[in-house]
Amino acid sequence: MDKTKTLLFFLFLFTLLLTTSFSKNLCHKDDKKALLKIKRSLNNPYSLSTWDPSTDCCSSWSGVHCGDDFKYRVTGLFINSDDKLSGHISPEVGDLTYLENLVFQYLPNLTGKIPPTIAKLKYLVLLWVQSTNVAGPVPGFLSQLKNLQFLDLSNNKFSGSIPTSLSLLPNLLSLNLKGNKLTGSIPESFQRKVLYLDLSHNHLSGSIPKSLGKLHFYSIDLSWNKLEGDASMLFGANKTTYDIDLSRNKFQFNLSRVKIPSTLDHLDLNHNRITGNISAQWTEVPLSVFNVSYNKLCGRIPNGGNLQKFDSSSYFHNKCLCGAPLKSCK
Ligand SMILES: *[C@@H]1O[C@H](CO)[C@@H](O)[C@H](O)[C@H]1NC(C)=O
Ligand SMILES: *[C@@H]1O[C@H](CO)[C@@H](O)[C@H](O)[C@H]1NC(C)=O
Ligand SMILES: *[C@@H]1O[C@H](CO)[C@@H](O)[C@H](O)[C@H]1NC(C)=O
Ligand SMILES: *[C@@H]1O[C@H](CO)[C@@H](O)[C@H](O)[C@H]1NC(C)=O
Ligand SMILES: *[C@@H]1O[C@H](CO)[C@@H](O)[C@H](O)[C@H]1NC(C)=O
Repeated sequence: MDKTKTLLFFLFLFTLLLTTSFSKNLCHKDDKKALLKIKRSLNNPYSLSTWDPSTDCCSSWSGVHCGDDFKYRVTGLFINSDDKLSGHISPEVGDLTYLENLVFQYLPNLTGKIPPTIAKLKYLVLLWVQSTNVAGPVPGFLSQLKNLQFLDLSNNKFSGSIPTSLSLLPNLLSLNLKGNKLTGSIPESFQRKVLYLDLSHNHLSGSIPKSLGKLHFYSIDLSWNKLEGDASMLFGANKTTYDIDLSRNKFQFNLSRVKIPSTLDHLDLNHNRITGNISAQWTEVPLSVFNVSYNKLCGRIPNGGNLQKFDSSSYFHNKCLCGAPLKSCK
């Protein structure tokens, strides 16, 4: 008799547990519906096999994050590292109304364009589409995302020019468009908040806007483009820049006149048309990377600081630079 009672008790407990765990399906039905459409537009990849309609998307679906600012709503979607996943970004992504972070990363067979419905995601703070085969223009409608702080569309197949409207995003801190096929020139008037700008490995041309000189970048990378003219406005004694890479362009300015930010750690200017000399102030900056090779610099490399710690390849192929680590001056 006692045994039956115990058994019944455990059976009761088990059913209770089961029903409570089922009733704990916290995922909002609209979010679940949108996610299942997104899964279908990616051809139901194996990496999303946990996206089972009978389970709670908030607690058991891989790459789905709920909560923080909006309880029981999907606020993060992270789909990455799957070379078997093929398809496109479904327009239903715009129905995940409370999304704050959206990441598609290392998906070589993700193709198509960024759907315009993304502009509906008014809480979006971070948008990363990295290392995919997504193509088309960098959409101007992204400028409607007024909360966007981190936009990374690096290493895709985007073409056309950088939409001017992007520079108006009021909260943008970081913009990475590296490794696409972007053409045209860099738009005017990025907001002062932008701290990190990477436009490297594209086909950008023309001269860079003077207004870039008003920004206080932590890091700026414009390397491997066809940019020309003056870039000296990126320097300045009062700036807090850590990293400047202008290599492999056609920049032409006089290095003798620039004032160096005391924070500068990485400077790569190789393969440009930079004139002037390396002034003594460069010995006062604790540089860890310095490359001015393949330019039109002249004169003595000042002795001191870190300047002799770099090998000759940091200085070679200039007009008439001399002194250690190059040959001594005549
Ligand atoms: C992914 O794309 C490559 C070519 O880019 C193709 O050979 C391969 O079959 C595709 N894989 C899938 C799962 O579609
Ligand atoms: C740099 O900062 C100093 C002190 O804050 C200021 O007096 C000077 O005008 C600034 N220089 C430039 C070029 O902004
Ligand atoms: C660079 O600027 C320095 C200092 O103003 C000047 O003496 C020099 O002639 C200039 N060099 C070139 C190549 O313009
Ligand atoms: C660089 O050029 C300027 C102006 O021509 C000159 O005053 C300065 O001594 C030169 N510096 C070096 C290290 O050659
Ligand atoms: C400087 O850049 C040139 C050209 O890309 C390269 O050959 C050289 O190795 C670089 N030197 C250093 C020290 O990075």
